[in-house]
Amino acid sequence: MREPPKQIRPHTGKLGVLLPGLGAVATTFVAGVMAARRGLGKPIGSMTQLGTIRLGKRTDDRAPLIRDFVPLAPLEDLVFGGWDIFPDNLLESAKHADVLSRDHLDPIAEELAAIKPMKGAFFPEYVKRLHGTHVKEAKTKAELVEQLRQDIRDFKKSEGVDRVVAVWCGSTEIYIEPTAVHESVAAFEKGLLENHPAIASSQLYAWACLKERVPYANGSPNLSVDFPAAWELAREMGVPIAGKDFKTGQTLMKTILAPGFKARNLGISGWFSTNILGNRDGEVLDDPDNFKTKEVSKLGVLETILQPEKSPDLYGNLYHKVRIEYYPPRGDAKEGWDNIDIFGWLGYPMQIKVDFLCRDSILAAPIVLDLALYLDLAQRADFRGTQEWLSFYFKSPMTAPGLYPEHDLFIQSMKLKNTLRWMKSEPMITHLGNEYYD
Ligand SMILES: NC(=O)c1ccc[n+]([C@@H]2O[C@H](COP(=O)([O-])OP(=O)(O)OC[C@H]3O[C@@H](n4cnc5c(N)ncnc54)[C@H](O)[C@@H]3O)[C@@H](O)[C@H]2O)c1
Repeated sequence: MREPPKQIRPHTGKLGVLLPGLGAVATTFVAGVMAARRGLGKPIGSMTQLGTIRLGKRTDDRAPLIRDFVPLAPLEDLVFGGWDIFPDNLLESAKHADVLSRDHLDPIAEELAAIKPMKGAFFPEYVKRLHGTHVKEAKTKAELVEQLRQDIRDFKKSEGVDRVVAVWCGSTEIYIEPTAVHESVAAFEKGLLENHPAIASSQLYAWACLKERVPYANGSPNLSVDFPAAWELAREMGVPIAGKDFKTGQTLMKTILAPGFKARNLGISGWFSTNILGNRDGEVLDDPDNFKTKEVSKLGVLETILQPEKSPDLYGNLYHKVRIEYYPPRGDAKEGWDNIDIFGWLGYPMQIKVDFLCRDSILAAPIVLDLALYLDLAQRADFRGTQEWLSFYFKSPMTAPGLYPEHDLFIQSMKLKNTLRWMKSEPMITHLGNEYYD
């Protein structure tokens, strides 16, 4: 086992949180932190704010709050900024997203309205449904990266912050796979200068952040920071990165339920998932090329949890289908249905129906907060490159090349908490527990 970090630098001063994409998720996150700071609500769903961690033996009775165990920046120290391709300030954007009520928005209206987006770097071919007006102009993609880097430096100066983290909360882009231009730092830099068409808008933000040593998490399924050149640059620059695609609604349920069926050796012949969703994210995903990116991210989950090649009798014929339907009347209040066809003893079939009336951005906001705080912690502990211990938050977790991701929420939770124990030189918890019976 690797040695724990020699030191974790303290969190002195403010922490800047930069968000590329200031839509429903980003505004719900920022407004939620502002509201929580004023005691207008609690940051429910956030492990860093409400979670506890067991230390030592069960008989030791040590289970501190995580934020008392590892040195995380407090909510009071967060300052926010970001980019969007529309000029609306955060209050206008939050109202447009229609997630939070006036009870929460009115008391923080001034604070929210003061945050205005910096101009976005945007290539419409990657998100065809949006027609952004608040966009940067440049001759090359390399120039756009330089402009984004300057934005980061200006933000640091104007807010008086030394440390900044970024969480991509922008739209889902069309499906692309890594190509030669994504293979190495040198190839990518050349591609930026030559305006290579396979370099997506979100990748420019990731690149600018890495160059500025800003840890970067990716909340959408885009390749944003998930390609070999970015992994290489992150390691080279000593920057932690994580992704991809926030694990909220339906996939969260899937990664809670599927490990249970597998643990009990129940078979599954089919899992049909469909959603209705009416926010801007739903509108973007209504385009088949953008939906494809989301579909790939959502489909991988069951295969990796159930490992059909290892249990062909149980999962060899599993039919898995995922749909998202854009249905404007619902706004952000998504409804996700799952029909699960399972079978038991001697193959007798049974059915489970799940109807999750969830709120997409309410589930995503605490993830943004936890990722921002954990990435800042990771950087202060000199972690670099892909942070697999943050898989807990993602539908399609990034891993070392050739390593399959852990999707099971309970394994992910154990991995995350063991990483925190390891960081602080506390013994791992294996749940073996035979010492209680000696
Ligand atoms: N529960 C969830 O809400 C959830 C879960 C998983 C993933 N996600 C992903 O998180 C992202 C944000 O979701 P949302 O509901 O807030 O969507 P949204 O449409 O409300 O917000 C996205 C914002 O990004 C902006 N944008 C698009 N391209 C940009 C660019 N190149 N530069 C700067 N800004 C850009 C858009 O103008 C928009 O304001 C989406 O990719 C979505 O798929 C959301």
